[in-house]
Amino acid sequence: MQPSRRKTPLFSSVTVAMKHRKSNNLSVFVVVFSVFLFGVFMYNEDAKSMAEFPFSWPRSQEIQEEPSKEANPVQETTKNEEQATVSLNSRTSVEEPHDKNTDQESDGNSKKSSIAAKEDKQKIELPSMEEEDDEEVELPPEQCDLFTGKWVFDNATRPLYKEDECEFLTAQVTCLRNGRKDSMYQNWKWQPRDCSLPKFKPRLLLNKLRNKRLMFVGDSLNRNQWESMICLVQSAIPPGRKTWRKEGSLAIFTMEDYNSTIEFYWAPFLVESNSDDPNKHSILNRIIMPESINKHGVNWKNVDYLIFNTYIWWMNTASMKVLRGSFDEGATEYDEIQRPVAYRRVLTTWSKWVDENVDPNRTMVFFSSMSPLHIKSLDWNNPDGIKCAKETTPVLNTSMPLNVGTDRRLFVIAANLTQSMKVPVHFINITTLSEYRKDAHTSVHTIRQGKMLTPEQQADPATYADCIHWCLPGLPDTWNEFIYTRIIARS
Ligand SMILES: *[C@@H]1O[C@H](CO)[C@@H](O)[C@H](O)[C@H]1NC(C)=O
Ligand SMILES: *[C@@H]1O[C@H](CO)[C@@H](O)[C@H](O)[C@H]1NC(C)=O
Ligand SMILES: *[C@@H]1O[C@H](CO)[C@@H](O)[C@H](O)[C@H]1NC(C)=O
Ligand SMILES: *[C@@H]1O[C@H](CO)[C@@H](O)[C@H](O)[C@H]1NC(C)=O
Ligand SMILES: *[C@@H]1O[C@H](CO)[C@@H](O)[C@H](O)[C@H]1NC(C)=O
Ligand SMILES: *[C@@H]1O[C@H](CO)[C@@H](O)[C@H](O)[C@H]1NC(C)=O
Repeated sequence: MQPSRRKTPLFSSVTVAMKHRKSNNLSVFVVVFSVFLFGVFMYNEDAKSMAEFPFSWPRSQEIQEEPSKEANPVQETTKNEEQATVSLNSRTSVEEPHDKNTDQESDGNSKKSSIAAKEDKQKIELPSMEEEDDEEVELPPEQCDLFTGKWVFDNATRPLYKEDECEFLTAQVTCLRNGRKDSMYQNWKWQPRDCSLPKFKPRLLLNKLRNKRLMFVGDSLNRNQWESMICLVQSAIPPGRKTWRKEGSLAIFTMEDYNSTIEFYWAPFLVESNSDDPNKHSILNRIIMPESINKHGVNWKNVDYLIFNTYIWWMNTASMKVLRGSFDEGATEYDEIQRPVAYRRVLTTWSKWVDENVDPNRTMVFFSSMSPLHIKSLDWNNPDGIKCAKETTPVLNTSMPLNVGTDRRLFVIAANLTQSMKVPVHFINITTLSEYRKDAHTSVHTIRQGKMLTPEQQADPATYADCIHWCLPGLPDTWNEFIYTRIIARS
């Protein structure tokens, strides 16, 4: 199925970081080298587990299980193929065939019909709930840099919603329900240095979204943020007036009373790749077509708010495999190109698409900078840490720059390119402020291949902690506050 030539499982950022360290004698070298190996190993584990998160997540308890179908032969074949491709590492477990897909489709439908019955009652409640809409919020000056600032503890106003009050959260992110004991990670507010973020008012945002579509496009971090956005607004919508469904690469949250949707579109590289299947994308040998974007782009047309990202899928190899020809024509040959070079090609393709297809009078475009990982606790001077697993507070001393291995070369490319486009693009600069949030990852309080980690797995964070994705409520809520700020500021 996939062409194979050469595996280069190297984490170049680690390499880069290590080059800066002086190793003047052998023992220092040995220590540094073992840290390097550790880093590479840990990183690969995370990159793999990241890849394995299914797009079709199992819904949490509130949704009734359909009588489960036996895996059909087609899925079985696929499973075996995948088993073959990933068997190089015994720890890498194979993505399950997602029998739940079909269950979910029907879940969605049955849910929809079951709520239809309640509609009349809820309609009566609407007018009174709309009243506080017009209340003013104070907007920060347009020039204020929202991304330079600090995290402040604020358990009076944070979190912005409660984990158990948002039925739309998936088991991947409900850390408390999944056994996390500390909850302080929910209580941090981002405080820009020179201004303040406006108070988050769901109805204010919903009124801006009326008759409009908002869409996140990208990878599972963007999906993380999509779930956050749904939870931020859903409390303002009565039960039964909001539904969730999946259509191929799209997941769509619909708010009927507003004729509005909050959507997520799976395209981890933005351009065409062999990882585009929303259900079976657990592919380690990732190959992209950097100049091919229309297949995805056709699904982004006529959307009013577009939020893009691409980063984490680039990070499991130092170079990127670029297809010679097209998948449609059955091409299998590829070139290996340095990551920043390929990244620039992809973002150039993306920026051209935006400039040619987006009407800036209608659509606001956002690009999120990279969401960081926290794999080596020595990065924040915790020799007793295990990846991000034992962290309960953010890094609060910001006088020293923090290096958690983020590939800043890609940051520079994205920051620069988004500023030189015809269509204005809001660059959401979340990287540095998120790097402080070593406490905010799902760690072992999450699912893997669609299943909750077992107590044995939870007891082994060195292997199983997910230090890529984030608990909700949590950090992605802040990312959405930036989007909110821009959206409500637009006249
Ligand atoms: C992004 O934000 C960080 C602080 O969080 C700041 O130091 C950096 O200059 C910003 N970069 C850009 C391109 O805005
Ligand atoms: C907020 O935190 C303070 C200090 O830790 C604590 O005394 C207080 O009970 C907390 N309040 C809430 C509502 O959790
Ligand atoms: C609903 O929203 C769509 C755009 O998302 C718009 O084209 C359509 O006119 C809206 N319908 C009504 C009844 O306003
Ligand atoms: C956007 O609106 C402005 C003023 O309303 C108009 O001059 C301009 O042509 C419009 N641009 C596009 C791409 O429609
Ligand atoms: C913050 O970090 C700097 C550099 O490591 C250190 O010199 C300083 O003492 C730290 N400040 C606090 C309050 O811990
Ligand atoms: C940023 O973009 C400008 C053109 O818009 C280019 O001249 C410059 O070299 C770029 N800088 C970097 C660091 O990529």
